[in-house]
Amino acid sequence: MSSVADFRSDTVTHPTPAMLDAMARAPLGDDVLGHDPTTAELEHEAARLTGKEAALFMPSGTMCNLVALLTHTQPGDQVIVEQWAHTACFEGGGAGMLAHVLLRTLPSDRGLLDADLVARWMLPRSEHTPGTSLVCVEQTHNFHGGAVMPRDGLRAIADAAHEGGARVHMDGARLFNAVAASEASAAEHAVLADTVSFCLSKGLCAPVGSLLCGDDEFVVRARFHRKRLGGGMRQSGVLAAAGLVALREMTGRLGDDHERARRLAAGIVEIGAYDVDPGAVDTNIVFVGTRGMAAEAIVAAGADSDILLYATGVHQIRFVTHHDVADDHVERLLDLLRRLAA
Ligand SMILES: Cc1ncc(COP(=O)(O)O)c(C=O)c1O
Repeated sequence: MSSVADFRSDTVTHPTPAMLDAMARAPLGDDVLGHDPTTAELEHEAARLTGKEAALFMPSGTMCNLVALLTHTQPGDQVIVEQWAHTACFEGGGAGMLAHVLLRTLPSDRGLLDADLVARWMLPRSEHTPGTSLVCVEQTHNFHGGAVMPRDGLRAIADAAHEGGARVHMDGARLFNAVAASEASAAEHAVLADTVSFCLSKGLCAPVGSLLCGDDEFVVRARFHRKRLGGGMRQSGVLAAAGLVALREMTGRLGDDHERARRLAAGIVEIGAYDVDPGAVDTNIVFVGTRGMAAEAIVAAGADSDILLYATGVHQIRFVTHHDVADDHVERLLDLLRRLAA
């Protein structure tokens, strides 16, 4: 385990030796021409796990969301999304710039949209209103502290969307964290949306890649948009091989990351100088308010002690646990926070 404790994100994880081995041995073809066997195997596995008809391998979660927007909507449509959703806030404005949709960002209770509010905003296509063709949900919700969206709440949102003639896309970048923190399988979460994407490159440790899953007809059209965006990848089996290891070997350990996140939150509460709600730690993300202390000063103090941190506000830090965060890293971080509080 590295001596550097990196709490910035679960995106910093490195491929495991089993992944590197699988990458070296992967049977390859040209996936843009439609026959890379390892990519096909990964797509088949992703579709099976999410209970969808088909899946498409993408370079990133951002591209999955953008391709979902392009495939589900027409330029000028309204898309309803939670106000801190990754799609709305952290994807470079691609929704507006490239999909030409109007994002209707709504407030939420810890990331979960209110279904009645969604129903109220399902503007129909008319001479005056843009028409609402898509509702996006996030599972788990990154900027609501890795919160797991309850399935009955998502069902009510999906019902409101479908009744208003829209479809539902689930940004499940951390879908398998939701699986690890709930009684439900990936398919049981994904059934609440028409399409779902998930990332292999975060807690699951693959170096690159995400999957966009939906019915056959959707995936054929999504494949066109991926190509148009320059996301067609040739011998992508090299990456898909790591993704297969991620799905087969890495999902089962995510609960360890959640346990460390809970331990971290409990330790921070004990220090008494920071704001954190341990009851809100569902998975691997802990948001902490730093009260009077500048978050950037804590980040700088961390860097001096080989602890990498990420400020999400002037007085807020987000800590993320993952495969490369060990118990002693959590203790070192708590020591640092104790010293700074004193
Ligand atoms: C909820 C969510 N969606 C999408 C993404 C985008 O994934 P990528 O970094 O692979 O583009 C992220 C990345 O952190 C995320 O947290």
